[in-house]
Amino acid sequence: MFPLTSLLFIAATLLLCAYTLHKVRLIHLMLHDVRDQSHRDNAGLFRQLEALQGLYTDLGLSHSLPDTRGWAASPDFLLELTRHAQAEKPRTIVECSSGTSTLVLARCMQINGSGKVYSLEHDAAYARQTRQQLERHGLSAWAEVLDAPLAPQEFSGAIWPWYATDGLPRELEIDMLVIDGPPQATRSLARYPAGPALFGRLSAGAAVFLDDARRPDEQQILRRWADEHPEIEQRELRCEKGAAVLRYRPRA
Ligand SMILES: C[S@@+](CC[C@H](N)C(=O)[O-])C[C@H]1O[C@@H](n2cnc3c(N)ncnc32)[C@H](O)[C@@H]1O
Repeated sequence: MFPLTSLLFIAATLLLCAYTLHKVRLIHLMLHDVRDQSHRDNAGLFRQLEALQGLYTDLGLSHSLPDTRGWAASPDFLLELTRHAQAEKPRTIVECSSGTSTLVLARCMQINGSGKVYSLEHDAAYARQTRQQLERHGLSAWAEVLDAPLAPQEFSGAIWPWYATDGLPRELEIDMLVIDGPPQATRSLARYPAGPALFGRLSAGAAVFLDDARRPDEQQILRRWADEHPEIEQRELRCEKGAAVLRYRPRA
């Protein structure tokens, strides 16, 4: 018979081995996750670089674009906007929030030789910055950044902070609408009012681009718009932050 101390020693060794094996297994699983995540990150980064290069090629820019990270629209979304604007040559584009997207769209209008971008911007300093960028690129004639402070307005029976839209020409028909504002922090479903405020001004066949469509708020907004506007088709775009394109197809 083994003495008790030997039995205790064997039991402790077995426990230690089991614990070590458990830890090794966890590290093994974690390494797989890290490897998969790193593949996804690299693929995502490469996709943005390809889109950025595509943008510079399609737009033939002689000056660099501002940042396309963080708050700005991502290169893949900007490339979707560019392809649409160059293929369909919209006469009038309205944007909710200004920035790199304003430059990109203004350059499309310049290349097309017609069209105008109206960009609603709630932040006066940011509006000034976008105007400076337009000037730097020689694009001021193709886009107007409108000072449009957010003010409480009623839509669908509730109050929302929404852009002052009185700077938009009264008879304006919108061929392309780009919704990348207001920022999420301003209210839940912050971009919902774009529907009740602007969809009534869409021309037949107009396209609406919504950025950040992967966020739960934007998903809910899309569902509300689908309920309220069955005549507007929705399609998902495969973009970094999620995006959707809506098409206004009124029945004859
Ligand atoms: C999602 S951003 C708009 C991005 C714009 N469409 C673009 O492509 O650059 C929405 C709003 O955030 C504000 N904003 C943009 N960049 C910002 C920054 N770096 N810090 C704080 N606010 C910012 C601006 O007022 C802008 O209208």
